Amino acid sequence: MEKRKILIAAAWPYGNYSIHLGNLSSILPADVLARYHRLRGDDVLYVSGTDCHGTPITITAEKEKTTPEAVADKYHKEFCKGFLDDMDMSYDCYTTTTTENHKKVVSDLFLKLLEKEFIYKKKETLPFCTKCNRFLLDRYIEGVCGLCGALDARGDQCDACGEILEPSQLKDPKCKLCESVPEERETENFYLKLSAFQKDLEKFVKKSSGWRKNALKMTESMLSGGLKDRAITRDIEWGISVPVEGYEKKKIYVWFEAVIGYLSASCEARSDDWKEFWENKDALHYYLHGKDNVPFHTVVWPAMLMGYEGLHLPDRIFSSEYLNFEN
Ligand code: MF3
Ligand code: ZN
Repeated sequence: MEKRKILIAAAWPYGNYSIHLGNLSSILPADVLARYHRLRGDDVLYVSGTDCHGTPITITAEKEKTTPEAVADKYHKEFCKGFLDDMDMSYDCYTTTTTENHKKVVSDLFLKLLEKEFIYKKKETLPFCTKCNRFLLDRYIEGVCGLCGALDARGDQCDACGEILEPSQLKDPKCKLCESVPEERETENFYLKLSAFQKDLEKFVKKSSGWRKNALKMTESMLSGGLKDRAITRDIEWGISVPVEGYEKKKIYVWFEAVIGYLSASCEARSDDWKEFWENKDALHYYLHGKDNVPFHTVVWPAMLMGYEGLHLPDRIFSSEYLNFEN
């Protein structure tokens, strides 16, 4: 009998902090699953890596008065030693989002979605801190969540309700670093046309099986609100450049790019037969991550895959709750 192709996709920890118990809540079950399927004789591809871009890394670099590269590099080394040597996790590939291979796969996906008009350009005004001289997005801006009222929502997500946000959905926004109230400034960004996938995502969720309840609930609630298109580029210096002439100074939003890591790591590990995992409807794909990662894995990533066409969609979503330690 043909060996079944099993992809195990465990969340990529941000390279901005030492290993902690929370990492294990997705990595350990992923490892158990990988070993289980290998014992059954399946062909297992268990991939992950260090998530090196985005504001989690640049903020740490600014705090530690060093470069984002140095931060990501330091923690990637620590993760390799910790996960691979000390804990003996059985990854088939543990890589990073800074490889040339990853950049290539990300550019390919971005350009294909652009060509198919699932990515489009839009001029808009965004919060700008004149004191820090930068656009305030993602972790540089905090305020009250316009959806659930939590006091400490960030520019791209509220950890209390788990929803992904636009900066305009934050009430009383403040610069995270200097606490100034931002003003609005014009810029231009590329948007992912999530709204085009509303119907297909509804069908996808209806047909899903083996999703944790929290994932199903959060995804259904997002879909019932109607999906909004999302900006997927940023005016920052650290990250993968937008592969479009004249826009190279802008960087691709970390969440658009990091989820592609599952695919790029598969290409890295199995350059000859990655398609047997990704262009094979009989493959089985497991995703394991914390609950704050749910919308990116059950809405954004499937929409990207649907837009690209021909690649396997997520099957099982194992999303853990937050892990509270000593309260
Ligand atoms: N770095 C993210 C976090 O720690 C998880 C990214 S998962 C990925 O929440 F697949 F997108 F890389
Ligand atoms: Zn909220």
